[in-house]
Amino acid sequence: MADASQTRDAWGSRIGLILAMAGNAVGLGNFLRFPVQAAENGGGSFMVPYFIALLLLGIPLMWVEWGIGRHGGRYGKGHVPGMLAALWRHPAAKYLGVMGMAIPIIVLIYYTYIESWSLAYAVFSISGTFQDRSPDEMASFLADYQSGGALAIGFFVVTLAINVWVISKGIEHGIERLAKIGMPVLFLFAVVLAGVVLFALTAQPGAGGATAADGLEFIYSPDFSLLGSPSVWLAAAGQIFFTLSVGMGTLSAYASYLKKDDDLLLSGLATSATNETAEVVLGGTIAIPAAVAFFGVTGAVAIAGEGAFNLGFVTMPIVFQSLPLGAFLGFMWFGLLFFAGITSSVAMATPLIAFFREEFGARREPVAWALGGLVLAAGLLHVALLDRGFLDEWDYWAGTFGLALFALVEVVLFMWVFKPENAWRELHEGADIRLPRVFKLVLTYVTPAYLGLLFLWWAVADAV
Ligand code: PHE
Repeated sequence: MADASQTRDAWGSRIGLILAMAGNAVGLGNFLRFPVQAAENGGGSFMVPYFIALLLLGIPLMWVEWGIGRHGGRYGKGHVPGMLAALWRHPAAKYLGVMGMAIPIIVLIYYTYIESWSLAYAVFSISGTFQDRSPDEMASFLADYQSGGALAIGFFVVTLAINVWVISKGIEHGIERLAKIGMPVLFLFAVVLAGVVLFALTAQPGAGGATAADGLEFIYSPDFSLLGSPSVWLAAAGQIFFTLSVGMGTLSAYASYLKKDDDLLLSGLATSATNETAEVVLGGTIAIPAAVAFFGVTGAVAIAGEGAFNLGFVTMPIVFQSLPLGAFLGFMWFGLLFFAGITSSVAMATPLIAFFREEFGARREPVAWALGGLVLAAGLLHVALLDRGFLDEWDYWAGTFGLALFALVEVVLFMWVFKPENAWRELHEGADIRLPRVFKLVLTYVTPAYLGLLFLWWAVADAV
């Protein structure tokens, strides 16, 4: 077994680390998945369980993942089986970890595929392809594209090659550098687009007779009417997992490159706050309000009901084309999605690269290329064999259920097997803030119980 601890990568700077962590968390989930989940689950009624899940699941699990990762890093481990084995000296730990490694690969396949659509659509937008197309034409354009012709495969290959290239350069020179460029661009684009939607589409009602302000009201006015419905709670928790990237080992993998006494509590909080700003403030202000202004609340909900792709790849270009500088706005929207996507997909690949490097002494480049080839083959196989329903299936089983299940494994190992005292000490080592002790109870009891309850609820709801 190679001893990688001598040559381990490290983050170059704290700001770079936080940008990379935020890049990991801020992704397609913030700008495509969140609006759809919010609209499908009643808008304001989704936000109540969403914030409860953020406080009781998301932020605590963010700290758990950072804690597990930095602890594993001390043993030279940046991959899930190794990190779990460092917490629990039992053969079962490694096997649980292997389960955890399968989830990011599955998500990586569909995630990079959608990422490649964003790249393609950014190019199409700026080159004026969408000029004067009707909604029906836009929908059939997407359907054609999705059927996986040469163009779609070409953009998929290019997207994977860019991912592989970044990953091959390592933590500081690859991932951190990408985040330092990608994150500011992404935020800039998002702020401009949110501003455009708010001002341009609030000044006068759109084709749906409604305005962006009606869309904001739909999402943000708290509504308690659907709180008795398990599916709303499950969807909210699922979104929190996905958007914060918890339950996949990617945050842990990043945290394993921290130094022993680097702060993790404040940095973890900063990462969560950045993600939530991108999601709730910016993600919430772009797609749904734009769709509401054009198609009314009922129309927007119907669009969201048909999935994230309709909203992101049909409705949004239609909205932007109707505005001055439409081609450029469309380019910004898809560029934003691309940067959001790629700073997350490189994170999904990180635990795997670490696994081969640390366990087999492999070099980064060949593993990265092999992984790229695997994702390409699996992606194409899916496109050929299944229709695009596979995206929803995988998103449900790996991207929602899998994350929650693995998060349960993590919190139980960290808080119970590793013991609350050790976990608390690990979290506070080098920390810039101290957590109120009540969080120890939250981490030990509330978070695992909440997760357990969700699984129970899910099983019951699924059975009836
Ligand atoms: N958080 C990312 C998003 O919102 C997705 C992701 C999940 C990335 C899990 C890494 C790990 O799009």
